[in-house]
Amino acid sequence: MLTPAELTLDEMGELAEFIPAADPEVQVHYRAIPAFEKPTRRSVIPVCEPTLTGNELKYVQQAVETNWISSAGSFIRDFEMQFAQACGSRYGIACANGTVAMHLAMATLGLEPDDEVIIPTFTMIATANAVTYCGAKPVLVDMEPDYWQMDIEQVARKISPRTKAIVPVHIYGHPTDMDPLMELAEKHGLYVFEDAAEAHGAEYKGRRCGSLGHAAGFSFYGNKIITTGEGGMVTTDDREIARLAWNLRDHAFSSERHFWHKYVGFNYRMTNLQAAVGLAQVEQLDQFVEARRHNASEYNRRLQDIPGIQIPKEAAWARNVYWMYGILVDKEQYGMNRDELRVVLANNGIETRTFFIPMHCQPIYWNTFKGERYPVAERLCRDGFYLPSASSLRLSEIEEITAIIREACPALQ
Ligand SMILES: Cc1ncc(COP(=O)(O)O)c(C=O)c1O
Repeated sequence: MLTPAELTLDEMGELAEFIPAADPEVQVHYRAIPAFEKPTRRSVIPVCEPTLTGNELKYVQQAVETNWISSAGSFIRDFEMQFAQACGSRYGIACANGTVAMHLAMATLGLEPDDEVIIPTFTMIATANAVTYCGAKPVLVDMEPDYWQMDIEQVARKISPRTKAIVPVHIYGHPTDMDPLMELAEKHGLYVFEDAAEAHGAEYKGRRCGSLGHAAGFSFYGNKIITTGEGGMVTTDDREIARLAWNLRDHAFSSERHFWHKYVGFNYRMTNLQAAVGLAQVEQLDQFVEARRHNASEYNRRLQDIPGIQIPKEAAWARNVYWMYGILVDKEQYGMNRDELRVVLANNGIETRTFFIPMHCQPIYWNTFKGERYPVAERLCRDGFYLPSASSLRLSEIEEITAIIREACPALQ
């Protein structure tokens, strides 16, 4: 039977200094919404929620009425084409979620057990797991401290004769510095698979994330900038990667005859119902990105002068889409730590989420990365959390959240 990976008290001791406390319970807190905004009362401001204000229902109804609800149907092709186009990519391969999008993309390489794939330690577990599903070994690097993205100089140092691919993750919707990374990959003959799960519509030097490496994986989970409930997509310009990904997604059925298989494929298909929602969402992508960028500037304006609060920076070459608006809390300067501030917000009905716990701290990867330390990722893990970030967030909610953070600041008392 499967047994969970557990850390001993000694091992936990090393981590206790920076891994987050359990989530505080968010208290119900009814608030009046100003008359000029949608007249509802909200009990909790969620950290994120979908915005389903376009053609979602109309397209789902069409799928139902035409009887195409499974994994064939025109919405799948339309969504693949429209989303790929929105990313500046030639091909889009829709699939069941963002984790399997990364797995599908990497599975096209045919990785072997000793092969290594370099990933940032500060990411969501799916990035590392997708490498593990391929039977390869994830190799970690730390983040650069300015924009919280993969440190490219460290990537250069971690390349070995067994390295096959690099996976930059555009954390929280801010692109990784891709030019030096692609240069490095080219020099060593490596593939680059962007984990763009959080970066719909984000741009690097005017080019969209998802079109910057050899292939990319997106997530359409309910908290993503565009959603299909659950869902994912591989984007690529590479015909061979696209062909293999389409084939592997669907059990690797052979074109020679039915029930004839030359690869171990997967059932990673998306349904036409999900794609119907996705098509309606992609029609609104630019609008959602504008809303998030606007929300981020409203947050920035109100938080930038609070001692000990570090707001997110945007690189000159980046168009950050702020999938999540994250901040760091310096305990000494602010006067309380991140977890204490989260409790204050939760008591006021405001949901927040801590930053990722790095891969080298995960019980399941503890032995793989034993003794490795990554100080930037550890600091992000200790001090970082994100505030409500939905595209539909109201200005009055941003005002309320930022006022609470200001009023709670002991250093200002
Ligand atoms: C960076 C990153 N990669 C991969 C994923 C996995 O996506 P999904 O939850 O759709 O499987 C996520 C999901 O949040 C993510 O944030």
